[in-house]
This record gives sequence, structure tokens and C-alpha cells, in this order.
Amino acid sequence: MQIPQLRQEAFADSPFPVQVLRETDSTNDALKRMCHAPHGTALVTGRQTKGRGRLGRSFSSPEGGVYLSVLLKPNAPASELLHLTAMAAVAVRRAIIDCCGVTPEIKWTNDLVYGGRKLCGILTELVRKDGALCAILGIGVNCNTEAACFPQEVRKIAVSLREITGRLIDPNDLARCMVRRLFEMDAALLTEKKAWMAEYAAACVTVGKPVRVISGTERSPAFAEGIDENGALLVRWENGETAAITTGEVSVRGMNGYI
Ligand code: BTN
Repeated sequence: MQIPQLRQEAFADSPFPVQVLRETDSTNDALKRMCHAPHGTALVTGRQTKGRGRLGRSFSSPEGGVYLSVLLKPNAPASELLHLTAMAAVAVRRAIIDCCGVTPEIKWTNDLVYGGRKLCGILTELVRKDGALCAILGIGVNCNTEAACFPQEVRKIAVSLREITGRLIDPNDLARCMVRRLFEMDAALLTEKKAWMAEYAAACVTVGKPVRVISGTERSPAFAEGIDENGALLVRWENGETAAITTGEVSVRGMNGYI
């Protein structure tokens, strides 16, 4: 079956200016090359040749996915934007619900998962251009991606909207919903943080579960007790002490062991 393609005309009435690219290396890198562009400029493509993920990893970006980055120029220092990725996860989750009625969970810190498998990843990068702070929010959603298109190691942990719904999803609808919800997020960024973070915590599959906090080769068992106002994961170690984890990787015990 023919996978529907992204079309520039679909974004004519978008609240942020959107450019559709047939293919690019990475929408985050492409936006970094155009930091002079206006606040809210978004790039979207159906194929990346050098998609990047968190922690310096690559992000497999085969045909069928929706890869979107938006450039924000927030009127606040980086220290007041610690919750940005978490709010983006809430925005994209809302967009997926709007677009096809699928309700993903959030796996701390920035993955959307469904049935314990990864549906979406988010990479936030902050860069300074001529003294001004630019935030590049990059989002990759497995929209119509066929399992066979992922590398072997990704295949068993990834899921697509197509697989969940049993039908092809129009990537234009999904990307439009994403841009609309990111626009809403941008307006709420500094004023409605509390409500958005409460929504994050309620949707977060990591909270209330035994976890392993991964640091280098070490895996430390803990219990995830909550999310703070900046999106840090509040954990209790086995010795009863507590910590706020702000970065790195945490695996959570799910139906099939730790994910
Ligand atoms: C992760 O899961 O580690 C984050 C993945 C982020 C992927 C998106 S796809 C759009 C944007 N361009 C990139 O190269 N990365 C982000």
C-alpha cells in the first residue's frame, strides 16, 4: 500500500510557519543552520538520513515516520526552561490523541510509549545565536513506519500508529496536530507550567514503579515516586534516601521486564 506523503499545501493555515522537506539529514541540524528564522519556524520531513537521538545516539528515521523540529526563541533564560521537553511530550501526546484517538503514555524523560513500546522520541537542544537563546525541539513519531524498515535492534521495542490503529494515518494530519499543540505549548510555557506538569505526571508510566537508574555501566535500583515542577524524576533509593534525577536514562519495570 502507498504510504501518504507530506505536502506543503497542508500547512497553509498553520499557526507556526512550516516548511516541508522531502528528505534531510536531521530536522534539528537543518534548523540549527537557520537560527535566524522567526520564532516558531518548523521543519517537517518523512525521511532523515542522519536522525539524532538523546545521549549522542542516532535515531533511526525510515520512511513512514514524521520527523518535525520547531525553533523557539523563548523570552527566558535556560534555567527557566528545564520543563520544556516535558511540556513538549504533553503537547505531542495531545496531538496524537487529536489525530487518531491513540492515547500514549510518557516514559520519563521524553519518550511516548504504547503497550511498552516506543512510539515517539523527543530531542531538545539549546543553542545561542548572536546572544539570543534558541531552543530546537525535535520530535520523531513512528506514524506509518513498517517494522521491517527499522534496524533489527529497534524492531522489537518500537511501535507505529499504523500498527496500533490498523490503518494508514495521514502524516499531514499528524504534523498539523503537532504544530497546533506545540503552538499552544509555547503560549503556556511560562504561565501554565503547573497544570502541564501535572498532566505529564498523570500520563507518566515511570511514576509509581520500580526503576533502574542507569549511569555508565551501573544500574541502580530505585522506586520512582513522582515528577517535580521541572520534569526531574523523584526517586527513592533502596537505602531510603531520595534524589531528583534530571538527565540520563531510567528503565522502568513493565509487563515484559524493564523497558
Ligand atoms: C530520542 O528518542 O533519543 C530522541 C529522538 C529525537 C528524534 C527527532 S526526529 C526530528 C529531530 N531530528 C533529529 O535528528 N532528531 C529529532
